[in-house]
Amino acid sequence: MKKLAIASIAALTVASTLMAGVPGSCVGCHGKDGSKNTMVKQSKPNTMKKADIVAALNGYKAGTQNTYGKGMMMKNFAKNLSDAQIQDIANTWGK
Ligand code: HEC
Repeated sequence: MKKLAIASIAALTVASTLMAGVPGSCVGCHGKDGSKNTMVKQSKPNTMKKADIVAALNGYKAGTQNTYGKGMMMKNFAKNLSDAQIQDIANTWGK
């Protein structure tokens, strides 16, 4: 019984971490799991390291990141993210 309770708490934690991780506004282009980019086929955020996702999002926020020529567009989506949200996204998608 105790084991079962621990297992369900663990499952709940994983599920809520996944849902809390990525704002709904990102999902249309990148998918829930970060496996795609509807505009740039070669970009797959979920193949990136966590630290690289943090760096990319901070770069978009600052207007300095422009990997595929669409950086200004990503700036609009990244500009209101808090440091905690950026970390959450990196933890959800990154390696
Ligand atoms: C309208 C589609 C669209 C939406 C919505 C969007 N993105 Fe992006 N995202 C892009 C494009 C296009 C790029 C490539 C930008 C560039 O040229 O550097 C990108 C790049 C990225 C990258 C870097 C990927 C790489 O290959 O270097 C990350 C991480 C990312 N987006 C996260 C997010 C997050 C988090 C959100 C929500 C807050 C979001 N995106 C919303 C289209 C979108």
